Amino acid sequence: MSEQSVSDQFNRFWMPFTSNRAFGQNPRLVERAEGVHYFKPDGSPVLDLVAGLWCCNAGHGHPRVVEAIQAQAAKMDYAPHFNFAHEAAFDLAEQLTAASPEGLDHVFFTNSGSESVDTALKIALAYQRERGKGTKTRLIGRERGYHGVGFGGISVGGIPYNRMQFSSALLPGVDHLPHTHLPEKNAFSRGQPAHGAELADELERIVTLHHADNIAAVIVEPVAGSAGVLVPPVGYLKRLREICDRHDILLIFDEVITAFGRLGAPFAAQAFDVKPDLITTAKGLTGGAVPMGAVFVADHVYNAFMDKPGSAIELFHGYTYSAHPLAVAACRATQEVYVEEGLYQRAAEMAPVFEDALHSMRDAPGVVDIRNYGMMGAVELRPDEGAPGARGMRMLQAAFEAGLMVRITGDTMAFSPPLTINTEQLEGATETLGELLDRI
Ligand SMILES: Cc1ncc(COP(=O)(O)O)c(C=O)c1O
Repeated sequence: MSEQSVSDQFNRFWMPFTSNRAFGQNPRLVERAEGVHYFKPDGSPVLDLVAGLWCCNAGHGHPRVVEAIQAQAAKMDYAPHFNFAHEAAFDLAEQLTAASPEGLDHVFFTNSGSESVDTALKIALAYQRERGKGTKTRLIGRERGYHGVGFGGISVGGIPYNRMQFSSALLPGVDHLPHTHLPEKNAFSRGQPAHGAELADELERIVTLHHADNIAAVIVEPVAGSAGVLVPPVGYLKRLREICDRHDILLIFDEVITAFGRLGAPFAAQAFDVKPDLITTAKGLTGGAVPMGAVFVADHVYNAFMDKPGSAIELFHGYTYSAHPLAVAACRATQEVYVEEGLYQRAAEMAPVFEDALHSMRDAPGVVDIRNYGMMGAVELRPDEGAPGARGMRMLQAAFEAGLMVRITGDTMAFSPPLTINTEQLEGATETLGELLDRI
C-alpha cells in the first residue's frame, strides 16, 4: 500500500452500489482470475460463488475467449455500425438466434444490461406506434424487480432505494405488479414455489384500471435476481403470458442474469416454456470478458418496423459501441464454449447438487429461507435487530476472509457459481459457510 491513507487511496474511483467509505477502510481486492477462482493480491484463492456478478458462466479466463479477444484486438480495434458494419456482427447474431427461443430471431446489440432494458422498452413503445397503436404507452414492471440503472430501468424496477434518490425523474405512466415473494407459504421451497400463480392476475386489475389500449408492455425477470433470487411460482409466468396475449400487450423477459445457462437452458424462456416478445441479455452473453448486451426481438415486432417505403431509418436508437468487435469476438468464443463444452447440460445436471448444498445450511443459525432454481440460489438471514444488512455484510466479509466470494443483497446471500464448478467445491463452500453462520 502507498503512503496515502486508506481512504485517500480508494476515494478516486467512485465505486458502484458500494459504501465507498466502508470499502476504503476495509478493501476486498482481487488481482487475478482463472477457472472458478479469483486470487487476492497475496496470491490466495477465492472460490467464485457468483460468477463475478452473475457473468462468468464458463469460468474465468477461458483460453479460447482470451485468444479470440487478443486476435480481434490485433486485427481491428473498432468498427462503426451506423451505416457501416463488421460482418462478424451478423455472424454472431445468427449464432445467437440459433439458441434463442423460436421466433425471436433478431438481435439489437448494446453494452450492458441497463442498455438492453432501455432498448427493449424503447422498442416496445416504438412498435406500438409503428402499428398504429400509439396510445399503448404504459409500461408495467414489478415490485422488487431490478432492470438496471437507466431511467427506464429504474422506473419499471421495483427496488425502493434504487428509485428513491431519483424519484423526481422516473418515467410517467408506469405501474407495478406485486412481487411473488411469499415466505409465509413458500419458505425453503426447492425449485419453483407452489403458491402464488394467482399474483399474475393483478395484471388483469391493472388492465381494467387503465384499459389495454393504453398499455404497451410488461417487463419481468423470469427469476428476480438482484432482489434476492425470487423464483416464479408454478404457473405464474404462463399466466402472465396468457393475460398479455388476451390484451395485446408485449411481454419482455429481462434475462440479463438468467440467459446463457444459469437455469440449465440457454434462456429462462426455454426453461419455463414461456415465450416472451422481447428478451434482454448481457452478463453471460460474453461471460463478462468484454461488456456487451443484446436484445432478442420477436419476428412480429421486428417486421412491424421493416415495411417502410424508401430508405428511412427504422429505429432511432443505437450505441457507438453496439457490436463492438472485441465484444463480438468474446461473445462468439464464449457461445462456442457453452455449446461445445455442454455447459447448459452441465448446469442442468449440477442443479440438484447445488440445491442440496444450499439447503444443507437450513439449520444454521439465523437462516430464515433458502430458495433456488437451476444454478441460481439464495440463503436469507434474519436481520440484526434495528440494523438491516449488517449481518449480510458480516457474512460477506467473513466469507471473503475464508476464501469464498458470495453476493449480498441486504441480509440475503445470493449464489450463481460458474457452471463449471464441481460437487466438491460446492459442498466444501456451503460447509464453510454453515460454520461461518455459527460465528458471525
Ligand atoms: C435483471 C437485470 N437487468 C438489468 C441489469 C443491469 O445490467 P448492467 O449492470 O449490466 O447494466 C441487471 C444487473 O444485475 C439485472 O440483473
